[in-house]
Formats: sequence, C-alpha cells, structure tokens
Amino acid sequence: MTGRSVCVVPAKLERTPEGIPYAPDFGDIYHSSAGGLAQARHVFLAGNGLPDRWRGRASFTILETGFGLGLNFLAAWHALRADPHGPARLHFVSVERHPFRAAELAEALAPIEELAPLATALVAAWPPPLAGFHRIAFDGGRVQLTLLAGDARELLPQLEARADALFLDGFSPAKNPEMWSPEVVRQLARLAAPGATLATWTVAGGVRAALADAGFPVEKREGFGGKREMLVGCRAGEDETPSPPERRAVVVGAGLAGTFVAERLASRGWAVHLVDPVEKRTGATVGLVRPIANLRDAVNAQASRPAFLYALQHFRALQHDGFHLVWRRSGVLQLADGDDEAARMAAIISAQEHDPAFLRFVDAAEARELAGRPVRGPGWWMPSGAWVSPGSLAVALLARAGPGVRRHLGRRVERLEREGAEWRALDASGSVIAEAPTLIVANAFDAKRLLPEARFPLSRVRGQVTFLPPSPARALDIVVSGSGYVAPLPDGGHVVGATYQHHDDADDVRAADHRENLARVDTMLPGFSEGLHPMGLDGLAGFRATIPDRLPVFGATAIPGVWAATGLGSRGLLWAPIGAELIASRLEGEPIPLPRDLAGAISPKRFLS
Ligand SMILES: Cc1cc2nc3c(=O)[nH]c(=O)nc-3n(C[C@H](O)[C@H](O)[C@H](O)COP(=O)(O)OP(=O)(O)OC[C@H]3O[C@@H](n4cnc5c(N)ncnc54)[C@H](O)[C@@H]3O)c2cc1C
Ligand SMILES: C[S@@+](CC[C@H](N)C(=O)[O-])C[C@H]1O[C@@H](n2cnc3c(N)ncnc32)[C@H](O)[C@@H]1O
Repeated sequence: MTGRSVCVVPAKLERTPEGIPYAPDFGDIYHSSAGGLAQARHVFLAGNGLPDRWRGRASFTILETGFGLGLNFLAAWHALRADPHGPARLHFVSVERHPFRAAELAEALAPIEELAPLATALVAAWPPPLAGFHRIAFDGGRVQLTLLAGDARELLPQLEARADALFLDGFSPAKNPEMWSPEVVRQLARLAAPGATLATWTVAGGVRAALADAGFPVEKREGFGGKREMLVGCRAGEDETPSPPERRAVVVGAGLAGTFVAERLASRGWAVHLVDPVEKRTGATVGLVRPIANLRDAVNAQASRPAFLYALQHFRALQHDGFHLVWRRSGVLQLADGDDEAARMAAIISAQEHDPAFLRFVDAAEARELAGRPVRGPGWWMPSGAWVSPGSLAVALLARAGPGVRRHLGRRVERLEREGAEWRALDASGSVIAEAPTLIVANAFDAKRLLPEARFPLSRVRGQVTFLPPSPARALDIVVSGSGYVAPLPDGGHVVGATYQHHDDADDVRAADHRENLARVDTMLPGFSEGLHPMGLDGLAGFRATIPDRLPVFGATAIPGVWAATGLGSRGLLWAPIGAELIASRLEGEPIPLPRDLAGAISPKRFLS
C-alpha cells in the first residue's frame, strides 16, 4: 500500500484585520490590499497585453501559478465575456497546492459583486479536494479551466500545453520560494509558446534572474497599489496561433466512444463523419459511473478520479445547456464480498485519506440505511456516483454537436485506405463511405481487425442485463454494486447486470443469464428478486471490448493521422468523456486534461514496445 493521500490539503480562509484574505501557513496575503480584482486587471491582464493579445485567436491559453481565490481566472473570464473579439476558446490552466473548499471559496468571493454570477458558477462546479487534474467547462465550453491540484514542482512537469500568457502569482518569493524556483520557471519556459508573455507583481532579483536564465527577458512596469513596480516579459518568437489542423475527421463507430469523440471535435468546429452499421439503438437500459479505488492506487484508480469528475461535469453541463439527459447522481453503494474485502476496503480509505464527499467506508448498518433495505454487509459509499441512460446521452451529445457531425448509419467500415493526405473508410463493396485527413477508430473490438498493425490486445466479452419490473417490494433509489450491479430505471423497475462471458459471440437474451443476474442481486440485497422467474423477464445482451491492463485506449496511434478510442471494458461511461476530450485537446494543440503519465498509460502506442 502506498499510504499516500489522494487528496490535497485545502487552504484555510483567514483574513487580516483589514479584511484581506490571508494564508496563515505562508504568512502572506492572497492579493494586494488595494483590491484583488483591480490587481488582477492591472498586473495580470494588462501586464500580458490582454484583452488585445487574444483578439482574433481561435484559442488562447493562460497558465497561472497559484489559483488561490481564482480572482485572476474570474477577471480573465469577465474580460472575455465583455470582449466581442475574444477567442472562441479560452483555456485557463492553474496549479494550486492548497485549493479552498467550495464553501470557503464562496465566502471569499462573496464581497466582489461584479464577479458574482461567475463566482457562483465556479463554486457550483468546484471539485472535491482531490489531487491531480480537473477540467471544468463554463459558458458552453468557451471557457475551460484546468485546475492542477497539487504542488507546482510535481504537476507542471505533467502538463502538456502551449501557453500564450503566464500569470506568476505565488506568494512572496521570500515566503514561498518553491513557487519561484528555477525548476518551476524552467517548466514554465517549456510550456510557453513562442511569443508568450508573462506578468507578475514581484520584481525580486532572484525571480528576474531565474526568468532571464529560462529565456524570458523581463522589464519593469508601473506596479499596482502600494507597489512601485512589477515585471512583464516576453518569450522570443512570433506571437501567432499555430496553423490549425484541417478540422475534418472520420470517426469509425458511433458507440459511446465514437459519439463522444465526434461531439468533442464538433465543439471545436470540426466537420466529423460518424460511421456505424447500427441504425437504431435501444435506449432501454442505464449504466453506472463511479470512480475506482484499489490498494496500490494503481493507474486505473488514479485515472478514474479525473475521468469520473470530468464525466460528471460533462453530464451536468449538457443538462445545464438545455439538452435532455436521463441520469441521476443517486450515489453508488459498493458492497464488500465478505470480511476480508471489507477490511481491505476500510484500509484503502484510511491509507489514502479519501474525501468523504467522494468516497467513504460505511458499516453494515449505514449501508442498510442508505439502501433502505437489507444488504449483505459493509462497503463503500460514493455519494456522487450516478446512473446514466447511454441512449439519452448519445442523443444529447449529437444534439449538442449539431450539423458538425454527419452520420452515416447502416454503413460498416470494411477497410481503410490512405489516398494522399486523406484517410478513406470503405465498405465491403469498396465504395468510399467518408474521407478526411484525421481518422479515429472507435469501433470497440473490431478496431483489432481494422488496424492490425496497432496490435491492440482486445478481447470481446459478452454481457447480459436483466430488467426487473417495478414493485413496491423492490424499492431502491440508489445504485448497489459489488457482485455486478443493480440500478433504478428511469421509468420504474430496476436493471441488474451483468454477466461476463468470454468466447461467446451471440447476442441473444437468455433465461440462464437472467437466472445468474437474479442470483447476483440476491447476494447483494437478500430477497430482492423474490417472486421473479427468469423465464418471464426482459433483458439486453451486448459486448465489452477489454484490454488486459484494464485501461482504455485513447490517443494517437503510430500510424500518421490515425487515432484510437477503444478498450473501454465495462466502464464506457467513465472513460469515454475524458478520453474523447484528450483526443480533441491533442488534435487542437490545447492543454491536455490529464497528466502526461496517465495520458501515456492509456496511449494506443503502449502495445508496440
Ligand atoms: C451488459 C453490459 C453492461 C454494461 N454496463 C455498463 C455500466 O453500467 N457502466 C458503464 O460505464 N459501462 C457499462 N458497460 C460497458 C459499456 O457498454 C462499454 O464500455 C461501451 O459501450 C464502450 O463504448 P464503445 O463506443 O467503445 O463501444 P460500443 O458501444 O460497442 O460501440 C462500438 C460501435 O462501433 C460500431 N462498429 C463496429 N464495427 C464497425 C465497423 N467496422 N465500422 C463502423 N462501425 C463499427 C458498432 O456497431 C458500435 O456501435 C456494459 C456493457 C455490457 C455489455
Ligand atoms: C497569491 S496566491 C494566488 C492568488 C490567485 N492567483 C488569485 O487570483 O486569487 C498564491 C497561491 O499559490 C499557492 N501555492 C503556494 N505554493 C505552491 C506550490 N508549491 N504549488 C502550487 N501552489 C502553490 C498558494 O496556496 C496560494 O493559493
């Protein structure tokens, strides 16, 4: 066991006698006593030539050290809203070792009336204090905040981005030297685009020297409030947007992965051909989405946290933007399979110091209370775990994507062909279904056939779910998992899943599998299936595409122009949103939503070595 906390230590909000937010651990204030918002505007926005410098750009990236109260972020967002010529997409990436909790953030920002609507939105979307990357979208995706929760020295090396403006806003270098250290400044230099600008309120000699060493000539400008001077700098090179990729793609497969990729690309102005032999999908079932935890905090658990939070925020944003998504954050109760597992589950929570609002251990009595009926024993409670209707999700995603996604349904891609700069997807008769310079293979297990050179170690695993009709005797509002899962269905009743059958390619619904699912639910919730007979039940059968390392496959393959989104196993709802965002971010040269090591762990190239 690593014994390492998966959480960061939240900041404590204190104030000076004058009312300025103050950090006791650093002995410093969060912003100038002459006003945080005015400081943000003078030092960080004007110091970086903003808003002028972002005008006419498709995308603009600001990288900040020290998110603190988020005043610089909110000031930038506020300026963007007021600017008719601002970029189509503003990325704000900020690293923060001690993020506030949502309630403290709300309290600290409350006095600044001008920012109230933006602060409210920020607080509503604010993540729990989990270490790592958090990507949150605002204003329909025009503003993208990527909060790196943790130490700048650890997390900046994990970032892949091309920053156009740097906001250096640690506490004073004397009190917070690590934020201004040569190693941090070297990372900023690595991440800065040619022509990137920087601004900071300090003129400390050590900071100037570290910046000059890293290739940032700096000069002094008139400071803000009580400060006579501040620093601005500019990286050598042309300040221009790199020529955008030709924004046309073919996505093979319109399941969860392909639909998410298509939507993420369309949100960036891409024209996407989405190809699938299936013309009509059933919307009958729901799936569950929850994070993974394990003793070693293995890569799948590490990746599951940003993936889960990103999925939730994406689902919320869809709903907020008016698209009809059938889902509910009902909470997921994962029951232990016996005493040994219960002890291990309890040990994981205490060793990894999970945030109880995210994941906590509950004893048998509390588990029973949460479920509202007898359960087999203790387990984990994941309050923000959810069930989602994948059918409604696909409809909502395509509605949001709009005309940018052109569907070719009833068409199966038989083979791929490269013609000049274009990839062509051909059907069995050799006709071209669609072509584009970028091809994303999202056809689950069939990706193995279509791209043999990628050597995907995919397996196909059959699974069947069973629908239980509504009954007062089976009241249950949450999702219970452990031996499979049982989830409430939106129109009443429940779904129980799922069987797990290797070497079985038939998709018929079988009474024997219903029997297995009824036994499964009864192990978790004794007596739940009483009175039901497997012969009279409905269900659905499908297939999972699994990879032995239990991680999905998202990213560029070694074949030029070809990307992959497959291997989602039993967790399509967890992996598809972040995986698709990763692909779209990389294609656009935007900051990536995951640390480099996790992006590498899910890369399609991992099978080639
Ligand atoms: C019984 C069962 C229960 C499950 N429960 C859950 C759950 O509770 N939560 C959860 O997160 N996940 C669950 N899953 C897993 C989830 O369904 C998958 O992870 C998810 O569907 C994977 O998405 P995908 O887009 O990669 O694959 P798919 O959804 O399989 O989509 C692949 C698409 O590619 C198309 N295709 C294939 N070949 C071609 C071709 N040659 N040309 C064009 N298109 C092609 C297919 O028609 C298909 O539409 C469950 C799976 C099963 C089987
Ligand atoms: C001056 S405050 C930032 C104010 C903020 N930019 C704003 O707009 O409200 C400095 C921030 O740097 C953070 N910090 C200090 N050391 C850090 C480190 N090593 N890594 C990441 N963040 C750090 C502090 O927790 C604090 O929130």
